[in-house]
Formats: sequence, C-alpha cells, structure tokens
Amino acid sequence: MSKILLVTGGAGFIGANFIHYWMKKYPNDRIIALDALTYAGNYANLEPVAKNDNFSFVHCNILEQEKVEQILREEKVDTLVHFAAESHVDRSILGPDAFLETNIMGTHSLLKAAKKVWLDEGLLPENHRFHHVSTDEVYGTLEPEDPPFREDTPYAPNSPYSASKAASDHLVRSYHHTYGLQVSTSNCSNNYGPYHFPEKLIPLVITNILFDKPLPIYGDGQQIRDWLYVEDHARGIDLVIHKGEVGDTYNIGGINEWANIDIVKLICALMDEQFKDNSELKDRFPEAKSAHAQASESLITYVKDRPGHDRRYAIDPNKANSVLNYQPQESFETGIRLTIEWYLANQQWWASVMDGSYKEWVDKQYN
Ligand code: NAD
Ligand code: TYD
Repeated sequence: MSKILLVTGGAGFIGANFIHYWMKKYPNDRIIALDALTYAGNYANLEPVAKNDNFSFVHCNILEQEKVEQILREEKVDTLVHFAAESHVDRSILGPDAFLETNIMGTHSLLKAAKKVWLDEGLLPENHRFHHVSTDEVYGTLEPEDPPFREDTPYAPNSPYSASKAASDHLVRSYHHTYGLQVSTSNCSNNYGPYHFPEKLIPLVITNILFDKPLPIYGDGQQIRDWLYVEDHARGIDLVIHKGEVGDTYNIGGINEWANIDIVKLICALMDEQFKDNSELKDRFPEAKSAHAQASESLITYVKDRPGHDRRYAIDPNKANSVLNYQPQESFETGIRLTIEWYLANQQWWASVMDGSYKEWVDKQYN
C-alpha cells in the first residue's frame, strides 16, 4: 500500500538524499518535505524531485505545532520521518541554544502534533509511524579496544549536539511507552555523499583542496569515525520503516572505521588523481596544488583540538543486519569516489551555500 510521508529537514543533507532515494524506489508514495531552511537547508537540494506530482514542500519550523498538525490532518500523513536538526558539533560549541530549541523542543513539538492528530483525534490510531533519525554520537566515545556501539550501549553524550539528540531519543521512546505512539529510531554513524554541507570534514577537505586552502586537522588527527555513504543510510531507514518493530531502535553502519588523518590523506591522493591529465579541471581550479602536479597532502595543517573531542565512534550493525537484512551497497572505495565526482561536478551548489560569519569563528577557534 502506498504511503504519505512528512519528511522534516527534507532540504538538508540526509533528508534530501532520503527523498531522492525514496521517490525513485516508491514512485506511488507521496512526500511532503518540511524545512525551516536554516543555513544548512537548501531548496536546491530538492530540485531533482521538485517537479514530481507526488512531491510538495512546506517552509515551516518544526516548533510550529499547529501548522504541523494541520499538515498531518489535511494531507492524511501516515509516516513522519524526522531529520530536522541542528547537526554540527562545532556549531553546538559556539552556540548550544539553537540545538536545544530544535533538537529537543522541536522534536517534542512534533511528537505532540503526531499524538494529537493520530491518537487523540483518532485520525490514524493504528498503522502510523513516527520515525526518528538519530546518531551514534549519543553513545559517547570509545577507547581503541572497546567493542562498537550496540543498541543497548548506555547513552553518554559529550557535546551539546549529542546531548540534545540523546534527549530527543528519550522523548521519542517515552511517547511510545506512555501514549502508545508508533515510533522507531535509528542511530547512524557519520554520513558522507552529495549535498553534504562544506563545513563537515569530507566536503571541507574536497573544496579547500580546490582553492589551495589549509586542510585543518583537529588535535593529532587520530580520532576515528565510522563512515557510511548517505544513500546506504536512506536504505537502512527504509528497512526500519517497512520491517522494523514499533518501539524499537536500530543502529545503522557499514563497519568502516577511519582515523581522520587517513581519510584526509586518501582524499588528497584521489583529488591529485582526478587532476592528472585533466586540463579542464586544471583550468577551472588553477590555484589547486594538483593543478601543478604538486601533492595536495602538503595542505594538511594541524590545528587546536575541538573541545571535548570524542576519540572514536563505531557502530555494531548486527541487529539491523540480522533482523532487517540490512547491508550497505557502497564500499568506502566506491562511495568516496562518487562523492568527489559529485563535488567536482556541482561547484555552483557548494560555492553558494558557504556562510561567512561561521567561517570567521572557526578560523579564530582553531588557529
Ligand atoms: P543538516 O544540518 O544537513 O540538515 C538539517 C536540516 O534541518 C536542514 O535542512 C535545516 O534547514 C533543517 N532544520 C533545522 N532546524 C529546523 C527547524 N527548527 N525546523 C525545521 N527544519 C529545521 O543535517 P543532516 O546531516 O542532514 O542530518 C539530518 C539528521 O540526521 C539529523 O537529525 C542528524 O542528527 C542525523 N544524523 C546525521 C548524521 C551525519 O553524519 N550528518 C549521522 C547520523 C545522524
Ligand atoms: P565532522 O564532519 O564535523 O563530524 P562529527 O564531529 O559529527 O564526527 O567531523 C568529523 C571528524 O573530523 C571529527 O573527529 C572532527 C574532525 N574535523 C577535523 O579534524 N577538522 C575539521 O575541519 C573538521 C570540520 C572536522
């Protein structure tokens, strides 16, 4: 049976990729993307689906509870997929308030709206789903020899970002336990891919290389993240929505741990390879080291560490693998190449989304 989805944060990195994935796979489903279009939200991310009759966009803040209720009611939404969030750890150090407002109060506002329309007004007491998209950062940090995060690993968030996401996970859980709202939650590792905002490590490194800018490595660069191609995250959420147990949580990851410095060196090597014998790229980016057959690696610059920097994240995906038959389709080798090719082909997108005032703060904080 076809679904009617409300996707919050649909103009952000993962939300937009999720919508592209879903509309291709389920062309008869209807999607309403809801987004406040903060600095991280960009309507251009939705251009590939904008003309589809089964797609519409609402400019709205998730804190506007009545407006959300109206959408749920009038559009007869049966599935709410909640991506909207403040998502960047460094920004949460600069100003935590927005994280508490959107990630905690905003999620609560959505839960109240869903409860009111689906349960209290009796519009859809069964067969609705509130899927909450969360992160592995809620589990805190791992030592090198620790086993990866499982669904039953105790929460120990360390940054204002992860603390606000942890709080939202607990609220979602409580609305199931107390009111019977049909929820599910997925906690995913670091994503990468197209439309990733260029303040995050991977797109930052790709775009800085092109303009001969330093590649800032926080601390010793030995922090470890577990990277997943964004479409594989969408695939995991799809399985949780269609096959996951109501009230349950699933960790999504691809067993792909990398130290930051190694990932930056890999990107440098792949960028140098892209430029080799490519006169079009050399003409477009004459400042790049690679345009002059020099190594991009020489741009690596060690800077001050991020305060409270988590040392290692890693996901144990066994539950999703065995219960949902989840398997990522991209290897890191294929995913990182696809990503680099996308950034080289979409300069207009990343050049237009950068934000000057935040950049100034980052330069001061880390130099
Ligand atoms: P993003 O910052 O790229 O996008 C967030 C989107 O939410 C933007 O479009 C923004 O405009 C919108 N938004 C922010 N505040 C809003 C509000 N109050 N009302 C309505 N819309 C609002 O983030 P992302 O990387 O796409 O992350 C999406 C979700 O996935 C987040 O919940 C994040 O915690 C989670 N997550 C991210 C990663 C990752 O690696 N990026 C990993 C695991 C989980
Ligand atoms: P980021 O992409 O911000 O994701 P998260 O903090 O949610 O994991 O950062 C990934 C890792 O890269 C993290 O350990 C911080 C580090 N990092 C740098 O070393 N330099 C940078 O300029 C940035 C943005 C991140």
